[in-house]
Order: sequence, then structure tokens, then C-alpha cells
Amino acid sequence: MKILNFGSLNYDHVYEMEHFVLPKETISSINYSRNFGGKGLNQSIALAKAGMEIYHAGRVGSDGQDFIDYLNRYNVKTDYLLKDENEATGHAIIQVCKGQNCIILHGGANQKVDDKQVDEVLSHFEKGDVLLLQNEISNIAYIMKKAHEKGMKIVINTAPMDDKIFTYPLEFVDIYIVNEVEAAGLVKTKTNDEKEIIQLIQKQYPNSKVVMTVGEKGAYFIGDDKVIHEDAKKVEAIDTTAAGDTFTGYFLASYLDDNDPIKALKIATLASSITVQGKGAAKSIPSIEDLK
Ligand code: RIB
Repeated sequence: MKILNFGSLNYDHVYEMEHFVLPKETISSINYSRNFGGKGLNQSIALAKAGMEIYHAGRVGSDGQDFIDYLNRYNVKTDYLLKDENEATGHAIIQVCKGQNCIILHGGANQKVDDKQVDEVLSHFEKGDVLLLQNEISNIAYIMKKAHEKGMKIVINTAPMDDKIFTYPLEFVDIYIVNEVEAAGLVKTKTNDEKEIIQLIQKQYPNSKVVMTVGEKGAYFIGDDKVIHEDAKKVEAIDTTAAGDTFTGYFLASYLDDNDPIKALKIATLASSITVQGKGAAKSIPSIEDLK
């Protein structure tokens, strides 16, 4: 079984702030750094650090060689990562304040993934292989359709959540990994009551497994006619960027190994509790040794 993550890569411009900038306000940051990020890249790094062999497909711009080198440093396979000489790599503007963040995305090359690239990449994969997706690249519906035709298993982290999600062939999804806001979006409810959201998930997505993180309240696995909950670890968050990506990578690595959702929730919860104690996205993702 091979794992393919077809996902985004961003330069993260991170500004530490006294408070998030408000309309009509101009304020200075306390600190600035530029890091490797993008939900796709972060999740590939998390999977690799969790010990999985992972192929990352996607698109960077003419300035994107550093991403290829960075992924290779962590043994992520980049054979299917395309360098688009006519585009700039995607980027994110991230404000961080008191452990919270807010993010502006500019897709750049991430939004240039086309049918030709998808067909080429998927020609290297077959029945039983796993496809991981987020919602930060173009042409996701086509990727899902083609992967399903091949018999690949489809896992999607519907972040960032928007209405485009409902144009995707969601009937092909085997596993969703979402936070509580994305979960509420998926079942089209305004409630933030976890129990209600879970019931709606069971009703509306009976053929998929859904993993729902609920921040400091932990995470749920909903599927196989059961609901399993794991508490979050109590830690002080410095920067929550990539916590969800760490959770996704570690959950998947463990779950694909032995189909044990309890064990997978435990390891993913632990890994993301370490990520929030470090600054930055990919660079704050722990290794298996850190977890031990
Ligand atoms: O999940 C965190 C990521 O979201 C950041 O690295 C940023 O690039 C955005 O994609």
C-alpha cells in the first residue's frame, strides 16, 4: 500500500502580534519569521515523522526548490511534485497572538493543479493505495473521481471548509478528518453542540468514518457503529498552527497500520499537544522520538 498526499505547499509569513490587526488599524508585529507550511506539506511531514513512506504530489512555483529539499530532508518522496516556472509558490500570512492564529491564504501554484498533472500522478498508483487530500489545491473533484476509479482509498481533511466541498464527490470518501467547525459545516448545522453534530454525522455520513477534533476537549472517532472519545492533553499553547495537520498525519499513520481507532486517537492527540507548544507549522511537528 502506497500513500499519496496531493496537497498544498505554502511559504508561511508569520507575525507575532500583541492583538490581531483590526479594520483601519496599522500595527507593528513583535516578531516575524518565514517558515515552510501549507496543510498538505505539514501533513506529509507529520506522516513521515510518524514513520510512514509518503509521496507528496502538488505544485510549487519557480521559487519552490527549497520545498523539494525540505520534504526530501524528512524522506518525503517528491517525484510527483511539479515546479511551475510561470507561477509563484502559494503563501500564507499568519498572525499569531496568545496561542491563537488567523490566516490569509494566497493559493499561487497550488491552484494550478490541472487534469494533465492529476492523470500523470495517479498513473503511478493503484487499487488499495491511499489518497490524502485537504482543501487548498485546485481540481480536487477530478482527483477524487480518478482515484476512486482506480480503487484508491480516499481520506480528506476538509480544511479550510468552504462551499466548494459540496461540489466534490463526497460519496467516495472513506475517512474524513475535521475539526468541530468543519464538522458542523459538513452536516450544515449552526449548532456547536458536539453530541448533536455527532448524531448528524452518523445520519448523513453512515458509510464513512469521521474523525472530529474538538480542540482542548480532545477528539472523536465516529464510525463502525461506535463513537470513541479521547481527551486532549493539558498543555499551554504557544502557537496552534499545524496542530490539526499533525493530528491528521499521526492519526492516519497509526490507523492505516492496524485499524485501531483508540490507539490512533491517543497518538494523534499526544503529537498535536507537542506541536502547539512550538512556534511555526512544519517545524513544530514532533518526531516519534519526541513522543516517547
Ligand atoms: O494548517 C496550517 C497551515 O494552514 C499553514 O501552514 C498555512 O500555510 C495554511 O495552509
